[in-house]
Amino acid sequence: MKVTVVGAGAVGASCAEYIAIKNFASEVVLLDIKEGFAEGKAMDLMQTASLNGFDTKITGVTNDYSKTADSDICVITSGIPRKPGMTREELIGINAGIVKDVSSNLIKNSPNTIIIVVSNPMDTMTYLVHKSTDLPKHRIIGMGGALDSARFKYRLAEALEAPISDVDGMVIGGHSDTGMVPLTRLATRNSVPVSEFLSEDRLNQVMEETKVGGATLTKLLGTSAWYAPGAAVSGLVQAIACDQKKMFPCSVLLEGEYGLNDICIGAPVILGRNGIEKIVEIELNDAEKAHMQESAEGVRKTNDLL
Ligand code: LAC
Repeated sequence: MKVTVVGAGAVGASCAEYIAIKNFASEVVLLDIKEGFAEGKAMDLMQTASLNGFDTKITGVTNDYSKTADSDICVITSGIPRKPGMTREELIGINAGIVKDVSSNLIKNSPNTIIIVVSNPMDTMTYLVHKSTDLPKHRIIGMGGALDSARFKYRLAEALEAPISDVDGMVIGGHSDTGMVPLTRLATRNSVPVSEFLSEDRLNQVMEETKVGGATLTKLLGTSAWYAPGAAVSGLVQAIACDQKKMFPCSVLLEGEYGLNDICIGAPVILGRNGIEKIVEIELNDAEKAHMQESAEGVRKTNDLL
């Protein structure tokens, strides 16, 4: 199993690190345009191998896509991250050109690859990969919902004063401050609806904290987060590499599901060796349906800027 991660910045390096630590891939190629940068990150990470007990070989390359040839999975993290006060949508001008070039270079060298898009604005960048390449829809996946759901579970556990392993929940919709749809109605603590433990006000607060999860970190860090994004990507990569048939909310091209067409937006999918094995349509109530439609309108506005 060969995985390429494009962009050796904080998110890309975290992806490579978590993939390696989980020890399921034979090789991770880390590629960056900055001379020597990916080589340095790869060497530093390889020097953790004996300490952390992994055998994955991490190689760093400067913009040499021939070294990415025959990758089973390629992760695109390249582009600029947001600064405090910026929305993800504001990054489109610079990141669209980068994501288009990177995906074309990746596919030239790995025509059978599955692509995971992380660059922001993520739903629109995922849509761009659909529009600018010939890859079938099951091989283009946007990473947002897995991260947003992890942040949702963190906030739920905090509100419940419970360990995170007691909590389950999912965020669908767009990966943006206004577009996320945290499904509080379906969230549970050990299969008991969280509404049994938390007031409507407290649940609304959890919802709001989840939606601005990325912005809160950007304000604290001065740039966007990397540990949870890296861990979320590694979960998707592992589900595909190990054919786990695991369910994650991911940005996926919808063709009628959730009443939406010609848009990439977060919906639950089953991930396995073929990439997206299935889109799962869950029954939403009227408020959730309206929230999802509103979220889609926001994503479409950004898509129109392409
Ligand atoms: C975040 C970026 C990865 O939410 O979109 O942290």
